[in-house]
Amino acid sequence: MEIVKVNLGRRSYSIHLGEKLSQVGRIVKELDIGKKILLVSDSKVFRYYGETVKKSLEKQGCGVFVAKIPPGEKYKSLNQAIKLYEKCVRTKLERGSAILALGGGVINDLAGFVAATYLRGINFIALPTTLLAQVDASIGGKVGVDLSQAKNLVGSFYQPGAVLIDSETLKTLPSREIKNGLSEVVKYGIIKDKSLFEYLEKNLEKIKKLDISSLQRIIEKSVRIKAGIVSRDEREEEGEREILNFGHTIGHSIETAGDYRNYRHGEAVSIGMLKATEIAVAMHLCPSDLLLRIEKLLRRIGLSTRIEKISKRKIYQGLFLDKKKRGGKLHFILPRELGDVFICENVPFHLIRKVLQK
Ligand code: NAD
Ligand code: GLY
Repeated sequence: MEIVKVNLGRRSYSIHLGEKLSQVGRIVKELDIGKKILLVSDSKVFRYYGETVKKSLEKQGCGVFVAKIPPGEKYKSLNQAIKLYEKCVRTKLERGSAILALGGGVINDLAGFVAATYLRGINFIALPTTLLAQVDASIGGKVGVDLSQAKNLVGSFYQPGAVLIDSETLKTLPSREIKNGLSEVVKYGIIKDKSLFEYLEKNLEKIKKLDISSLQRIIEKSVRIKAGIVSRDEREEEGEREILNFGHTIGHSIETAGDYRNYRHGEAVSIGMLKATEIAVAMHLCPSDLLLRIEKLLRRIGLSTRIEKISKRKIYQGLFLDKKKRGGKLHFILPRELGDVFICENVPFHLIRKVLQK
């Protein structure tokens, strides 16, 4: 078991790597928070792991209430948040109470958003069960919900009190979801860590077969990268956290244009990373070899590399909701080489349209 810290000035929290879900009661006890808990999960994840978590908490004397959400991105919505607020009222959650999120990124973002806003903020603990949530969504405190116009349009920065990562839970994850999470691991390799990218190239077959030590290695490397970035730039104000959005400008727009149904988050980010790299090559900012190498790895993983069945015009238009969020300028994260990216504010619009058409 390893503990990685996210240090945020006077506050910090621990990410417990390789810890068993059955230990959650002990971790909650160590945090010395109230004993009333709302466990938020999706119905599928709850079937696998709900009782283990509930029993572990009850063993430590906690009163546990459960809220189950149907699986799927379309439930990361204000409507579901309202239902959860109502549950918080019915169960009389107080300031010292806690919300625990057991599930993937959808549950993390939704439950975290409710924890951030109910009573102006109650305790929040993340128990991520997808690869994507273990390497990315559960770390760093971005919580929120989607609107039909764009992803994550309503949200907050709200850090968890702790994150418990039990990588054994990945054994029940469908292979499409493993690939989905690997997309974010590839992202870390490109933005920050060439050796992680190379590790993926060399060990992909083992990883796809869910070899636990290889999985734990890529999870630990990813978590350390993200925890470091968030510790230095919690609110995306210093220019560093923004690089985590590599592939997300176009990726988010693909997800929204497909009505959150056609592409999983990591699948859309996979295409977004390739499109951003195509832009960098066209602007002579990075070598074309890099594009080929990234594309090869994404294909070997089994990730999408082309936009299909979605209007490219809709994707292009969707980009400008991102523009509003970022001081009037469309920001792209572009690669120079493996492990080195930068923020570019002047990508010509005709070039964006051109790479989308490919
Ligand atoms: P998800 O939460 O929808 O989970 C995917 C599917 O896997 C669901 O059907 C779920 O029921 C199932 N599942 C989860 N764990 C399982 C397990 N152990 N065994 C079997 N089935 C399991 O999707 P996701 O990819 O984890 O998350 C995507 C979301 O995360 C998107 O909304 C994205 O915007 C968000 N995200 C947030 C951040 C952040 O920083 N907050 C970062 C990246 C992505
Ligand atoms: N997933 C991007 C971030 O957490 O900043």
